[in-house]
Amino acid sequence: MMYAICYVSDERKELNKEDLILLYEQTVYNNYREQITGVLIYKDGSFFQVLEGEHQIITSLFDKIKKDKRHMNVITLFKRESDRVFDDYLTGFSIVDNYQGLESLRIFLADKRAVSTTSACVESIIKSYLKA
Ligand SMILES: Cc1cc2nc3c(=O)[nH]c(=O)nc-3n(C[C@H](O)[C@H](O)[C@H](O)COP(=O)(O)O)c2cc1C
Repeated sequence: MMYAICYVSDERKELNKEDLILLYEQTVYNNYREQITGVLIYKDGSFFQVLEGEHQIITSLFDKIKKDKRHMNVITLFKRESDRVFDDYLTGFSIVDNYQGLESLRIFLADKRAVSTTSACVESIIKSYLKA
C-alpha cells in the first residue's frame, strides 16, 4: 500500500517566474527519481500538493518541504495509506498553474471517483479552485 499526503500553503514572498521554474524543475526531477507521483497546483500565491509514494520517502520529503523558506502556513489536509491515483496522469507528477490544467485534472479525477477516496477528495478541492 502506498502513502499519500495532501497539504496547502502560501508563498512566503511573491515568487517570480524564474523562482517558479526552478521549483518546478527541482520537484519534477526529484519526484521522478524517487518514484513519487501526485500534483502541485500553484494558484493566486498558494500551493496545493498531493504526494504519493513509499511511506518513508513521502514522510521525509514532507518534513523537508515544511521547512522550505519559499512558503509558509503549511496545513495538512490528509495523510493516509492510499493506492496511487496519479501514476497514469501525465508524467506521474505534474504541475498545474493554469485554468485548462485544472479542468483536465478535474475530469481525470472524476473518472476515478468511484474507485478511490483520494481522488474523490482531491476532486472536491479542485472544484472549489475552479469556481474561484
Ligand atoms: C510548495 C513546494 C512544493 C515542493 N514540492 C517538492 C516535491 O514534490 N519534491 C521535492 O523533491 N521537492 C519539493 N519541494 C522542494 C523541497 O522543499 C526541497 O527544496 C527539495 O526537496 C530539496 O532537494 P535536494 O535535497 O535535492 O536539494 C517543494 C517546495 C515547495 C516550496
